[in-house]
Amino acid sequence: TYTYIIFNSSRKINDVQVLTVATDENHGLERFLRSAKVYGIDVEVLGKGTKWTGGDMNLPGGGQKINLLKEKLTELSKSGKKEKIILFTDSYDVLFLASIDDILKKFQSFPDTRVLFAAEQFCWPDTKLASQYPNIEVANPYLNSGGFIGYLPEILEIVNYKPVSDKDDDQLYYTKIYLDKNLRESLKIKLDHNSAIFQNLNGALSDVQLKSNTSTEIWPYIENVVTKQRPLIVHGNGPSKLTLNHFGNYLAKAWSSTEGCAMCNEKRIELKDDKLPTVMMAVFIEQATPFLEEFLDQVLTTDYPKDKIHLLLRNNVEYHETEVDDFFQAHAKEYATAKRIKPSDFISESEARNIAKDRCINSACDYLFSIDSLSRLEANTLRHLLSSGYDVIAPLLVRPGLAWSNFWGAVNSAGFYARSSDYMDIVYQNIKGVWNVPFITNCYLAKMSLFRLPATKTVTYTREGIDPDMAFCASLREVGVYMYVSNELDFGHLVNPETYDISRTNPDMYQLFDNKMEWTTRYLHEEYHLNFDEERKHLMPCPDVYWFPLMSKRFCSEWIEIMEAFGQWSDGSNNDKRLESGYEAVPTRDIHMNQVGLERHWLHILKEYVRPLQEMVFTGYYHNPPVSVMNFVVRYRPDEQPSLRPHHDSSTYTINLALNTPNVDFEGGGCRFIRYNCSVRDTKLGWLLMHPGRLTHYHEGLLVTKGTRYIMISFVDP
Ligand code: UGA
Repeated sequence: TYTYIIFNSSRKINDVQVLTVATDENHGLERFLRSAKVYGIDVEVLGKGTKWTGGDMNLPGGGQKINLLKEKLTELSKSGKKEKIILFTDSYDVLFLASIDDILKKFQSFPDTRVLFAAEQFCWPDTKLASQYPNIEVANPYLNSGGFIGYLPEILEIVNYKPVSDKDDDQLYYTKIYLDKNLRESLKIKLDHNSAIFQNLNGALSDVQLKSNTSTEIWPYIENVVTKQRPLIVHGNGPSKLTLNHFGNYLAKAWSSTEGCAMCNEKRIELKDDKLPTVMMAVFIEQATPFLEEFLDQVLTTDYPKDKIHLLLRNNVEYHETEVDDFFQAHAKEYATAKRIKPSDFISESEARNIAKDRCINSACDYLFSIDSLSRLEANTLRHLLSSGYDVIAPLLVRPGLAWSNFWGAVNSAGFYARSSDYMDIVYQNIKGVWNVPFITNCYLAKMSLFRLPATKTVTYTREGIDPDMAFCASLREVGVYMYVSNELDFGHLVNPETYDISRTNPDMYQLFDNKMEWTTRYLHEEYHLNFDEERKHLMPCPDVYWFPLMSKRFCSEWIEIMEAFGQWSDGSNNDKRLESGYEAVPTRDIHMNQVGLERHWLHILKEYVRPLQEMVFTGYYHNPPVSVMNFVVRYRPDEQPSLRPHHDSSTYTINLALNTPNVDFEGGGCRFIRYNCSVRDTKLGWLLMHPGRLTHYHEGLLVTKGTRYIMISFVDP
């Protein structure tokens, strides 16, 4: 142990010993010791590795702390230094916020005080004792045993006052001594009513503010706004532990707006390619998931050697089974091992998740990397999380443009979502770092050595009445395992399954609004963005007829599939019940977008992707949003309707998107603009023709002689 020699104002030399008790090494202790290190405080940990016999700390208990302290103080007393000062604190839920010099100075500013105990707002564990307190007209009337500071002889007398069993309550023990007027006065015991040194958080949440971003302070600190003190030690006593976890993200020089995230790099591990840890990649498809194909690709393209990955692929959605099975058959052998759980196995979600965890625990598996099909990850996410050095860590994933993410900043007393003050800042990456949070889901990495300890035996995904992930996180919280979410980098995002309707043909097509990122990646033409290159010369196959790449090949084939699956093509007569007038002068065999639930989608495509093209070439015409009442797919084929007679469109401009390919899917076809005697026959898949309507571009649909030609038409601004 180390000894500090401190000179106080009266030039008295003090010798300080900082002591705590921690029978187990856990995240709370790690954080406590980190804070001590940050402020240069050396702490001796008592009870290390011994069995905790102090009872369940949600109930009265903790006498063991006194007995361990007694033993240590007896030993110290033999050294003969009477003026030795002892600072004792709990460890699992305590942070130092200042140096020992500052703490001592504060202590010695208390007049006529030999022992100073922390104080709190609850008289615990025996509320009946409240009436015996000499002074309760103060901010924190009652003694708390999680922290005290004082001179060795007095503290020694206190701990030796009478025998205490490990199971007895330490707070009750000290309280009774304090409430004994003679002892209180002779030993000069005081309580830190104003939290000048010790801030207990239980009951004090509205008194304590986390302050940051001030011009004078680099690092965030807490202030007791009631007592106007700036506490030097903070204690998440009783049920306030999650608040301490939240504060701990900032305090003890963990994070600041100018210095950034100190905690991000302190545990960083360098991954060595020849010594990479083994990971169980547990993939969960629990609900019908938009763009599952892209998700499975992402699983495959994770930047990590597959011989270091044990794949567990769990699908519980019959609709996806063929696709998942194909994936598994094709790739299982690339992995170190691969296991499946199918819908036909009738295994519940919580069981499946427990299976993954237990398989990992019971095998040569260093980490569990749990990924739900709703997560979309950058390829380097796994490596980043592994190298973070954190035991349980999730990459921040958010539904684009929304506040919905894969973590909670706080939980309410019933264990459900509550918003923390920094939730939005984390979600929007206004602040970046690794954040201790009470709930993570959808994707996270968990170090398995932690789960092999007796203390974490109770961690489970199964709990009556709550979701598997809520059960998992609640059980982690109960055993004091910290969960983190990192938003240091952009790790990916979440897809939104809320409106995903698998009764549709090609349901992903309907996801333009809820999963736009995936949608545009799959369905927009890969050259669409080149349309806007400054140097781009737009194709103009006929006068004032422009040609642009708009939709992908995949779009075109899925679009046709939707129409054909629907199958109710119009009969090509002039009578059309779908129209308000009931009459169509130039009928085609077609399906309107409102018949297949795609009207809103197509109008959005017109507004977002077509209108900007129009504004580029027909300059000076701005009409936003474009109006179009007639949006339809036309089918031309020799035995049905093979062509369309010359006509004007009732539009300001018309777009005509080729959904398939001449000389491949059909022969003949195309569009002839009669006034210019100009035809476009070699239409290109996914490219649209855009031409003025009504007046100049009198045109006809050319004869299809073989196969079937499909085009998508809109009469914009009729
Ligand atoms: C509150 C007080 O803050 C404690 O100081 C007091 O001992 C307790 O009430 C009581 O009177 O029963 P709380 O802070 O919520 O309890 O308790 P914990 O932090 O869970 O436990 C107190 C300390 O005991 C820990 O911080 C740690 O230093 C030690 N401990 C506890 C162990 O070393 N091992 C254990 O298994 C449990």
